Amino acid sequence: MYLQRRNRILRATPSIRSLVAETTLTPNDFIVPLFIDEGENIETEIASMPNYFRRSIDLTVKEVKELWSLGIKSVLLFIKCKDELKDNTGKEAWNRDGLMQRSIRAIKDAVPGMYVMTDVALDPYSSYGHDGIVENGEIVNDPTVEALVKMSVSHADAGVDMVAPSDMMDGRIGAIREGLEENGFTKVGIMAYSAKYASCFYGPFRDALDSAPGFGDKKTYQMDYSNRTEAIRETLMDIEEGADIVMVKPGLPYLDIVREVKNAVDVPVSVYNISGEYAMIKAAAKMGWINEEKAIIETLTAFKRAGADLIATYFAKDAAKLLNV
Ligand code: PBG
Repeated sequence: MYLQRRNRILRATPSIRSLVAETTLTPNDFIVPLFIDEGENIETEIASMPNYFRRSIDLTVKEVKELWSLGIKSVLLFIKCKDELKDNTGKEAWNRDGLMQRSIRAIKDAVPGMYVMTDVALDPYSSYGHDGIVENGEIVNDPTVEALVKMSVSHADAGVDMVAPSDMMDGRIGAIREGLEENGFTKVGIMAYSAKYASCFYGPFRDALDSAPGFGDKKTYQMDYSNRTEAIRETLMDIEEGADIVMVKPGLPYLDIVREVKNAVDVPVSVYNISGEYAMIKAAAKMGWINEEKAIIETLTAFKRAGADLIATYFAKDAAKLLNV
C-alpha cells in the first residue's frame, strides 16, 4: 500500500505527540473557587461535591498557601452568609467587617501574590435566594445594580484584585466600573460573567452556600440555554462597559459558546467548570465507571482547546498536582 500522507506519524510516541500538541494546560490557567464560612478551624465537606469543602477563614488561608505552593495564582471567593444576616436589600454584602471583606484581607495579608477575585451577586445575602432585590415577585434591575456597585466598592476597599459580577443584571459592568473609578480603585479589575445561562448544573453550588432560590427560578436574568447569538451580544456589551475578562458559564455543555466568544473578542476569556460538572465526574469515578484523573485532565484541556484562556474549576488543586509530577 502506498500512502502519500500518514497522519499516525505525528502520533507515534509520547515525544512527538507532545512536540505537536496544540494545547497545553498549566496551573497558570486555573482560578480556584473557595467557599468560606464563619468560625474557626471549620472544614465541612459539601454533600453533593465530594472532597470539596467550606472552610473558616483560618483554614482557607492555609489552603491558599498550599495552592500558591502548587503554582496556582488565583482564587475566587464565595461566602456562606448566616441566615440572620440575610434580607431583601443584601446590605450585609457591603458590610466593612463582613465575612467576605475579612476573608479578602486575611488572604491578601498571608499570600500577597495570590490574585484574589470575588463573586459579586446578592444571592448568598438574599432572604429570597435571588441574585437581586425582589419587589412584587420580580427581581428589579436598577436597584440591584446600585447594590452591586456598593458591594464591589466594598470588596475593593478590602483589597480585592478583581471583582466578578455573576448576577446578569443589565448595565452592571458599566456601573461597577464607574463606582470603582469614582472611589479611586483604578487598579481593580472586572471579570464579567457575561454569557451565564440559567442551568440545572448549579445545584451542588447552591447546597454549598445554602443559596437556592426561595421561589421561581433565575430565567428572567440568566440566559436561556437555547441561545447562542445572545451570548455574543451580552459579551460585547460587557467589554464595552469595561470588563477586563469575560466568562462563559456553565462550561462543559457550552464549549460551542466558549469558541464563539473567543473568536468574537479581544480580551481574555474564562470558563466556569461548575459544580454540577464536578459532581458528575466525581460520581462516575466513585462508581468505577471512569478514571477520575484522566477525566480531569481531558476535561480541562478541552476547555483550553475550545478557546478558554482561564478556567475556574474545583479540580484545580488535583490538576495542579497531576501536572506538577
Ligand atoms: C451566584 C453564583 C452561582 C454560581 C456562581 N455564582 C449560582 C447561581 O447563579 O445560581 C454557580 C457556580 C457553580 O455551580 O459551580 N450568582
